[in-house]
Amino acid sequence: MEHHAAGEDIAQPAAVLDHLLRSRHSCRAFSEDAVPRPVIESILASAQRTPSWCNTQPWQLAVLSGASTRAFRAALLEHVAGAQAAPDIAFPEAYRGVYQERRRACGLQLYEAVGVARGDREASGRQARENFRLYGAPHVAIVTTDAALGQYGAVDCGAYVSTFMLAAQAHGVACIAQAALAAHASFIRAWLGIADERRVICGISFGYADAAHPANQFRTARATLVEAVDWRE
Ligand SMILES: Cc1cc2nc3c(=O)[nH]c(=O)nc-3n(C[C@H](O)[C@H](O)[C@H](O)COP(=O)(O)O)c2cc1C
Repeated sequence: MEHHAAGEDIAQPAAVLDHLLRSRHSCRAFSEDAVPRPVIESILASAQRTPSWCNTQPWQLAVLSGASTRAFRAALLEHVAGAQAAPDIAFPEAYRGVYQERRRACGLQLYEAVGVARGDREASGRQARENFRLYGAPHVAIVTTDAALGQYGAVDCGAYVSTFMLAAQAHGVACIAQAALAAHASFIRAWLGIADERRVICGISFGYADAAHPANQFRTARATLVEAVDWRE
């Protein structure tokens, strides 16, 4: 975890929260060290407090560790080698304007960090496949929602993913949400024996960061409030 600024009183709840939000980042290289089960349970127990519409709590998780993670990684890598993406929830058709710019900016940051040259399709493909290696994480959580709860079920699961990531950060556990895994929803459902009516939202690979790895050396920017908020008084 990053150190907080001098004079910042991180004993205050708002400061603690802000510190967690500012110090977390998506981890794309992990050490092999497993996260102890009580720590995972603590993260999951905190994330259970996520609010949801009508308190439906539509999220369910398959949490993989040890041999399960290794077997899942191997099967997924084999599957994606010959499969087309087929997510339950349609991926964006296009990124335009500011969204295209932001997507490109964070992609370039990653490529620069890991040394993928512009236009090097083989290297960018290799980096994209890291998703299916779970970036070397010892654990992955597959987050699903009930199809009958529709788009708001997915919204609730998005909130859950965010709470999970913050709780993980609070425990010094690194993670990354991965929609890339949801591209292979049917395979995941079949491999994990998840019911047909459940829709795959994303995966969250987690563990302890390989802090020195090039993929973990950059931090993404955020738009200012001016860009995000239209004040009406
Ligand atoms: C729902 C969701 C899905 C994501 N899917 C992927 C993914 O498939 N692969 C990946 O490398 N990063 C993925 N990310 C990570 C984002 O790229 C990252 O959160 C964003 O660039 C902001 O950077 P930060 O998380 O380091 O703050 C995903 C993040 C979210 C919230």
